[in-house]
Amino acid sequence: MKINFEKISSDQGEIEGALVLFAHNEDDGFVFSPAAANADEQTDGALSRAAGASDFKGKFGQIVELLAPNGIKASRVLLVGVGDPEKVDEKQAERLGGKIIVKLNYSGDANITVVARKHATHKAYGMLLRHYKFDKYYTTEKNIKKSTVETVTYQTEDPDGSRSDFEELEKVADGVFWARNLVTEPGNVIYPESYLEQIKELESLGIEIDVLNEDRMEELGMESLLGVGQGSASESLMVIMKWMGAADKDAQPVAFVGKGVTFDTGGISLKPGAGMEDMKFDMGGSAAVVGAMKALAGRKAKANVIGVVGLVENMPSGTAQRPGDVVSSMSGQTIEVINTDAEGRLVLADCLWYCQDTYNPKFMIDLATLTGAMMIALGQDYAGIFSNNDELCEQLDAAGQAVDEPVWRMPLGDGYDKLINSDIADMKNIGGKYAGSITAAQFLQRFVNDTPWVHIDIAGTAWKQKPSDVAEKGATGYGVRLLDQLVRDNYED
Ligand code: BES
Ligand code: MN
Ligand code: ZN
Repeated sequence: MKINFEKISSDQGEIEGALVLFAHNEDDGFVFSPAAANADEQTDGALSRAAGASDFKGKFGQIVELLAPNGIKASRVLLVGVGDPEKVDEKQAERLGGKIIVKLNYSGDANITVVARKHATHKAYGMLLRHYKFDKYYTTEKNIKKSTVETVTYQTEDPDGSRSDFEELEKVADGVFWARNLVTEPGNVIYPESYLEQIKELESLGIEIDVLNEDRMEELGMESLLGVGQGSASESLMVIMKWMGAADKDAQPVAFVGKGVTFDTGGISLKPGAGMEDMKFDMGGSAAVVGAMKALAGRKAKANVIGVVGLVENMPSGTAQRPGDVVSSMSGQTIEVINTDAEGRLVLADCLWYCQDTYNPKFMIDLATLTGAMMIALGQDYAGIFSNNDELCEQLDAAGQAVDEPVWRMPLGDGYDKLINSDIADMKNIGGKYAGSITAAQFLQRFVNDTPWVHIDIAGTAWKQKPSDVAEKGATGYGVRLLDQLVRDNYED
């Protein structure tokens, strides 16, 4: 789907293909945009009649569709309500764009023209995000439902400005799509070595990549991460991505860390069979990090950014870690592994320690599909954040609201921390029955030293059973836009 921007035309009658026009809500009725009023006139009031017949009030997201009206060339007109025009911000514009493409994706029209005086960039962006579909494994005609849309033209006041803003957002969308692809790919396709091959594609954008293999991690004492992958036929890997985009390449970087469990069976503490296939998404945190790196490098962000992902497969086998095993970690702290299914924190422990020890970052933000308890607490709308730093939480909250990837802060504290003390080691890898997401975060906090840090538990937000206005159902790519926005708002030269 190609998206263009051009100057608004005075005559809507000549536009072919699908024509999208707007109206807003006022009192108990609607008010046409100038372009819609113009089209209504040319069709001898067809738009007004259609609006009346379908109780259209110009409310946000209301859509009336007219086919082949007399008097204009368009094959169809979509009249789209924007609600209260004062309330339309970038986020709302994206949602409108998503709603429009859902209506037109399979309409048969190849060309769409949207006459948007305002927010053209973000309407186009929402459309792009919602248009994504993972269909590479369909082979038969009946399964392939291809969008008929080829070109979308936005007619707007400032096409050059809109286009250049959009080109930057397109880079972010590339990161989102890549993350969605990685999360959707099954465990037989994405495992640590194949995942690394994908990540290497980032080199073409100017990202430097370092890889720690099992031998190297052993030398560094990363028993915690290695224990998780010990039952798998795939070699565990830690991958470091560096984007040094700031003017001063030696300036302290920011760091993102991701859980990349390419498949989580639970290990010897095996998960029940029903729904286990979903655990291909257990590398969602790492996908957000690599997607964000792609977005940042793609739009040449003026910031120094480190990405660290721990790639392992959690399998039960004759070589797998046993419940009760005690492992050390790069930090030197020892861990009693009570439950091999609480593996994400074991992976992140060594990633976090290595990251702060090696790069001395301004802060670390880790993302992980860490606990089922997170979904119990917050459902699928908000990701939970846990942190030792108020300012960073505020910045993330603002970024999350701006891009509609919201976060909600959860508590940490000594009382929770005690719950992971062990009888025979420095800590155990699970707490009790209660506060499962918090005890997981307390565990991570023991590996961040005194670095400002936020843990984002994306167990509920990485995958959705239902589509949203900006994403098809399935992998959301949650986190890519959030991290990009955080950097954009606070950490660029
Ligand atoms: N990857 C899972 C968390 C998860 C489960 C995310 C379900 C989304 C949906 C994680 O590795 C895990 O298994 N966590 C356990 C922890 C428990 C053993 C303390 C969980 O949440 O059940
Ligand atoms: Mn698990
Ligand atoms: Zn897991």
